[in-house]
Amino acid sequence: MSEHKVSVIRGDGVGVEVIEEGIKVLTAVGEQYDVTWNFIEHPWNSDYYFEHGRMMPTDALDQMAESDVIYLGAVGHPDLQDHVTLNGLLLPIRRTFDQYVCERPSVLYPGITSPLRDPKPYDIDMLVIRENTEGEYAEVGGFQYAGFEEEIGIQSGVFTRRGCERIITYAFEQARRHDRRKHVTSITKSNALGYGMLVWDRAFDRVAEGYPDIETNSLLIDAACMDFVRRPESFDVVVGSNLFGDILTDIGAIITGSMGLAPSGNIDPERRFPSMFEPVHGSAPDIMGKGIANPMAAVLSASMMLRHLGHDDAADVVDKAVIFLIGQGEILTPDLGGTSSTSQVGDAIINALGKG
Ligand code: NAI
Ligand code: MG
Repeated sequence: MSEHKVSVIRGDGVGVEVIEEGIKVLTAVGEQYDVTWNFIEHPWNSDYYFEHGRMMPTDALDQMAESDVIYLGAVGHPDLQDHVTLNGLLLPIRRTFDQYVCERPSVLYPGITSPLRDPKPYDIDMLVIRENTEGEYAEVGGFQYAGFEEEIGIQSGVFTRRGCERIITYAFEQARRHDRRKHVTSITKSNALGYGMLVWDRAFDRVAEGYPDIETNSLLIDAACMDFVRRPESFDVVVGSNLFGDILTDIGAIITGSMGLAPSGNIDPERRFPSMFEPVHGSAPDIMGKGIANPMAAVLSASMMLRHLGHDDAADVVDKAVIFLIGQGEILTPDLGGTSSTSQVGDAIINALGKG
């Protein structure tokens, strides 16, 4: 028997709704595999901000540091500027816990209709590895003459040799996994961003030398966006900076069916701190409260969490249940062409555990 302490931040909007289903599934699969969950709920979201003037308490990171993992829904509120929610909660967690890897798989499952023309199941099967602690999202910059006509905003990208090398190394290690095609694509823009992105390119070349068994190529971000649509089957492992990885994974999500299917893990590979698992999607205010958000991205994120905690068998069972349900095509939320509710899909995933 094993027991895990999980910090849960449901957050805002559909985040609350999908995490409910994720917890249901984790509880059910935990009973089958002798895993006990100690869920610690943290009520940190936009409402917390409206009440306290901050997204989370000053000791929030200390509170979570003792957990094995963090399970997050999404944060974002129409009445709050997104940089407040992001810089007040999400980014400090990623940085403080040095979750320098953001791992985001994009897989086209049988039964999904892609907006692309006729790709076959598993034609799209890629793993985007996004740098998660520096790059374009580093909090480095400033204003001058804020609010005046002369207003200036300076936003700097931070690309360190150490930061680039460690994320690229992680990508190469993933490419060596038995289920991958042993190919790594580097995403760059060093033609226009001739400083930081050159540090990135050089790091990629250096790291690649240590992996002669892995094929590589390098693409400019704009060309990569085109090829994600034109020939997504050409990608296996893709490694990119914070911003480029963010953009590419929305394309990866939609060509494989829905934002409601895309999971992610924010990982500290050295396991000094808790890693955090969350769906790629946001709080989706356009559908919140209607009970129609697809919980599959949150459930597949929970499966990544299981894998991180060493419960590969349980993770496989969860993945298979979701894939089984998609293939059946009967109990699905509207984003996948169905008429079922969030909780009906959650229940159906639990019923499908052990199938597929
Ligand atoms: P979004 O991901 O919330 O929504 C984009 C589209 O996908 C919408 O049409 C939405 O209805 C749909 N969608 C998202 N999740 C879905 C699900 N589970 N099932 C079915 N359909 C789903 O992105 P958007 O609209 O750009 O952002 C909304 C808010 O979320 C903003 O405040 C933003 O800052 C925040 N956000 C937060 C993130 C996080 O906490 N990690 C990530 C992305 C956005
Ligand atoms: Mg994003």
